[in-house]
Amino acid sequence: MTDTLDAEYRTGQIKLHGPEGFEGMRKAGRLAAECLDMLTPYVVPGVSTGRLDDLAREFILDHGALPACLGYRGYTKTVCISPNHVVCHGIPGDRALREGDIANIDVTVIVDGWHGDTSRMYGVGAVAPRAKRLVDVTYEALERGLAAVKPGARTGDIGAAIQSYVESMRCSVVRDFCGHGLGRVFHDAPNILHFGHKGTGELLRPGMFFTIEPMVNLGKHPVKLLSDGWTAVTRDKSLSAQCEHSVGVTEDGVEVFTASPTGQFRPPIQSA
Ligand code: MF3
Ligand code: CO
Ligand code: CO
Repeated sequence: MTDTLDAEYRTGQIKLHGPEGFEGMRKAGRLAAECLDMLTPYVVPGVSTGRLDDLAREFILDHGALPACLGYRGYTKTVCISPNHVVCHGIPGDRALREGDIANIDVTVIVDGWHGDTSRMYGVGAVAPRAKRLVDVTYEALERGLAAVKPGARTGDIGAAIQSYVESMRCSVVRDFCGHGLGRVFHDAPNILHFGHKGTGELLRPGMFFTIEPMVNLGKHPVKLLSDGWTAVTRDKSLSAQCEHSVGVTEDGVEVFTASPTGQFRPPIQSA
């Protein structure tokens, strides 16, 4: 049954969803979060990123869902794993994680046609203070972005909140990748820039679904793409961190679809 509120009508090209969409996104978001929860104990020195990808794929398929990245625009893995100076879209493979690495794992699942897209930072063994600080700044940046989401606000308010905080901490916001609308479609309107100016961009309305997924560098913001066509790294080789939630705009604020049911969205990082 599709009620009229849930019909995917267009405002510009941004879809507005009703209760059925929220219900679908809750399920997809929860499974994506549970997949990242499941991986936490496996993120230890010596584990290969390919092994973590296998674990994620098996988990998703075992739960009757689909890995959205597998086959997406020619991508051949389930998750993206982006260690240290890799900004995003690191391809899992034989590379082993090492003590002291920080790594982002980004997963997107499809449950009953709805996309749940989320990523977190993991510490591998004991991590240097500057790396831990970067991860802390990145989580706080996402929190600041989430706090800017409510009907009547604009997408630029999210970017401005993130950028002003990140730069106040002497870090930089990556410009070349952004958050995105999602739902039954993986990457949809609107773009959610993680920098910008208050009062600019698209008006937020109840029923909009999108991700917020700031990438924060310890050094300068420029990135370059490696020859594999996916892996983005910082140009200055500085450390980069990211975290991502899928959210919906509610009548009075925001609903986070990808919160960890067991409170593990920020895996503890051991200090070196
Ligand atoms: N999950 C990523 C995002 O946040 C997209 C990865 S696309 C892939 O939008 F093909 F690289 F997996
Ligand atoms: Co995303
Ligand atoms: Co993602």
